[in-house]
Amino acid sequence: MEETSPLVSPLQDSTDCSFCHSEASSPRGGFRANATPGSVVRVSAGSPGNDRERQPLLDRSRGTSQYHRNEFPDDPEFREIVRRAEKAIEEEIFPERIYQGSSGSYFVKDSQGKIIGVFKPKNEEPYGQLNPKWTKWLQKLCCPCCFGRDCLVLNQGYLSEVGASLVDQKLGLNVVPKTKVVYLASETFNYNAIDRVKSRGKRLALEKVPKVGQCFHRIGLPPKVGSFQLFVEGYKDADYWLRRFEADPLPPKTNRQLQLKFERLVVLDYIIRNTDRGNDNWLIKYDYPMDTGGIFVSKQQQHMIGMVKDPIIKIAAIDNGLAFPLKHPDSWRAYPFYWAWLPQAKVPFSQEIRDLVLPKLSDPNFIRDLEEDLYELFKRDPGFDRGQFHKQLSVMRGQILNLCQALKEAKMPFQLVQMPPVIVETARAPQRANESYTQSFQSRKPFFTWW
Ligand SMILES: Nc1ncnc2c1ncn2[C@@H]1O[C@H](COP(=O)(O)OP(=O)(O)OP(=O)(O)O)[C@@H](O)[C@H]1O
Ligand SMILES: [Mg+2]
Repeated sequence: MEETSPLVSPLQDSTDCSFCHSEASSPRGGFRANATPGSVVRVSAGSPGNDRERQPLLDRSRGTSQYHRNEFPDDPEFREIVRRAEKAIEEEIFPERIYQGSSGSYFVKDSQGKIIGVFKPKNEEPYGQLNPKWTKWLQKLCCPCCFGRDCLVLNQGYLSEVGASLVDQKLGLNVVPKTKVVYLASETFNYNAIDRVKSRGKRLALEKVPKVGQCFHRIGLPPKVGSFQLFVEGYKDADYWLRRFEADPLPPKTNRQLQLKFERLVVLDYIIRNTDRGNDNWLIKYDYPMDTGGIFVSKQQQHMIGMVKDPIIKIAAIDNGLAFPLKHPDSWRAYPFYWAWLPQAKVPFSQEIRDLVLPKLSDPNFIRDLEEDLYELFKRDPGFDRGQFHKQLSVMRGQILNLCQALKEAKMPFQLVQMPPVIVETARAPQRANESYTQSFQSRKPFFTWW
């Protein structure tokens, strides 16, 4: 890894560190697994970050005015879906605001008016400049001290959404509908008056004096950067189904399916330290067999009414915009995982989930790769701050450390959330060109060793 790599902490060398390992050896800067014991650097966990998170991060001129093409060379399927959305907007089938949300979130449609995605523009996030909800504006005005979650980087929710999808895909959890950074412009988005006037002026110029109009780089409204998540059909809020299952318990085989999917949600949420996982922020799809009372129902009819031979349960972890904190939430604003109170959280982690994620999470090269992918993602934001990103990674590494221990010991999710929060920082001694890991605990508890 380069000396200037953002994945190396700005921490200085110390006489004391938990262990050091050799210089990068993998093509992507991964490190050799044969770590050698070194010295320990103690850092205070949960130390408040600097005040940058309270500053507006969005430099509008950088954030929105450039023309961006939505190219996804590695994912033609996703590119095709975004193309369909763009075509629909050209045909004036505009994204529609989701009214119940606390921010500007939009259902994006295709030319037939079918919902194909959920778009959340950066500058309409709960604390974004153009959030269309006046309640958030009022909160900012009247109660600035309580504004925002001080453990999160403000106004980077769209990256958190995409980061959650990245973690999900790398671990093969498949619970987050695919989410990527996309640029879209639409009449229905919240723009300020200047942007609207400029756009109208340019359009008028193009109509009246086409030669002048053709000089404009872009005619319409400026595209907004945001997260675009694929829309999943046939799902309902987890709350709804969990209540139904309480009253009418699932058959054991289906219940087991739910349990295995639930564990994947737990792994995702714990790693990204989601601070907003209520049971309304994950969805369940349940295709169940119906009693036809002996009446013949054709395959096509069965499909149309969602009837299946073997019941199938799927879950979708949506609304991941409030994750990747730069410090662990403190005790008075703990942002608990609401799933921890469900009966599913009182079942030890299964062999299936352990087999799926432990080999990856125990591999330092995998972790390094994940960190680099997250870096490539987060650095795209105009407000990106290397120090903050480093803190976000320190929390994530601590979460992974706890999770690995819980999985190895076949603990229950309920026990996992009770483990003392850890942060794990990296630092490289300048003269030794080595990296070292440092662990510290929120409350002073036993000292664990790295994997
Ligand atoms: N990918 C998706 N597929 C299907 N439905 C979705 C998807 N994403 C969101 N929804 C639906 O839209 C609703 C609002 O979405 P979401 O919670 O992500 O928005 P939000 O603006 O962040 O809201 P809030 O902050 O109030 O939770 C969800 O409750 C869900 O019903
Ligand atoms: Mg929500």
